[in-house]
Amino acid sequence: MHTIYVDPTVSDKVRRERLYDGQVFAFTPRPAAQALCDHARTMIQDAFGDYDPRTAQYEMAVEEYVSIVAPLKPKFIHHPRSKELARDLLEDLGCDLNKTYLDVPRLRMVTSDGYLTSGVGYAHHPHRDTWYAAPMCQLNWWLPIYDIETEASMAFHPQYWDRAVENGSSEFNYYEWNRRDRKDASTQIKKDTSKQPKPEEPMELEPQVRVVTKAGGIVLFSAAQMHSTVPNTSGFTRYSIDFRTVHIDDVLKKEGAPNVDSEPTGTSLRDFMRASDLRRVPEDVAQLYDKVPIPEGLDLVFKPTQ
Ligand SMILES: [Fe+2]
Repeated sequence: MHTIYVDPTVSDKVRRERLYDGQVFAFTPRPAAQALCDHARTMIQDAFGDYDPRTAQYEMAVEEYVSIVAPLKPKFIHHPRSKELARDLLEDLGCDLNKTYLDVPRLRMVTSDGYLTSGVGYAHHPHRDTWYAAPMCQLNWWLPIYDIETEASMAFHPQYWDRAVENGSSEFNYYEWNRRDRKDASTQIKKDTSKQPKPEEPMELEPQVRVVTKAGGIVLFSAAQMHSTVPNTSGFTRYSIDFRTVHIDDVLKKEGAPNVDSEPTGTSLRDFMRASDLRRVPEDVAQLYDKVPIPEGLDLVFKPTQ
């Protein structure tokens, strides 16, 4: 059974239990979420100047578009307001800020009609974030910055919640990914060269479930949920914010969604900061998730380029 809970009033604890059970949560726009989206929308509009960011792709060469959005992504990540507003949103939704850790909020864009599909505009194939070394208790928060249509949304493939898929996660090491692949994303326009864990068998992508909310709405789901980017045919570039959280009690107890097919090495846990004071996850806690010793010379945390 798959349920989408809309604006539920359950506690954070009950919410996490349901998310770890494969259910999806959605929230209609609330002031704290709208404030985060307003902040992002202002940054996007400033970067595009006189162009409408949703249709600018039709008025400029793809190289020019990339030259605008590539610096915008790290600028949003590093802007102190981005983290503050994400923290305010977590507080508004009943998370304990002393126990909830978040990573940096990211800005993403998905252009329409295949204008830009690599690098900064990468359209995600079906995947679980846990293939990319997310802990099984990670939760993903996703917010569209402008109103969207289903043709520009995100798809869930809930039939795979408890069904394993042949995939490349066993070849994936989080620290190598930080060192090599991610840094090149902003320069990739035509083709993606980064090695990502992908399904290695044909997948049934229908039926799929999409959640369409207004700007400032929220979709909240487990990192183990199979999901993909819908090929955008809406005629408008989609801009969205996402960030991830973990609850430290669940990290320590290794609770979370069941692991059906994720076998990466390394962990993204060191990227997470306590919402109350932005202190990182303690190193000894992160090491609970390192199955093999960490080779030297790798980047343990995600370092977005300035
Ligand atoms: Fe994802």
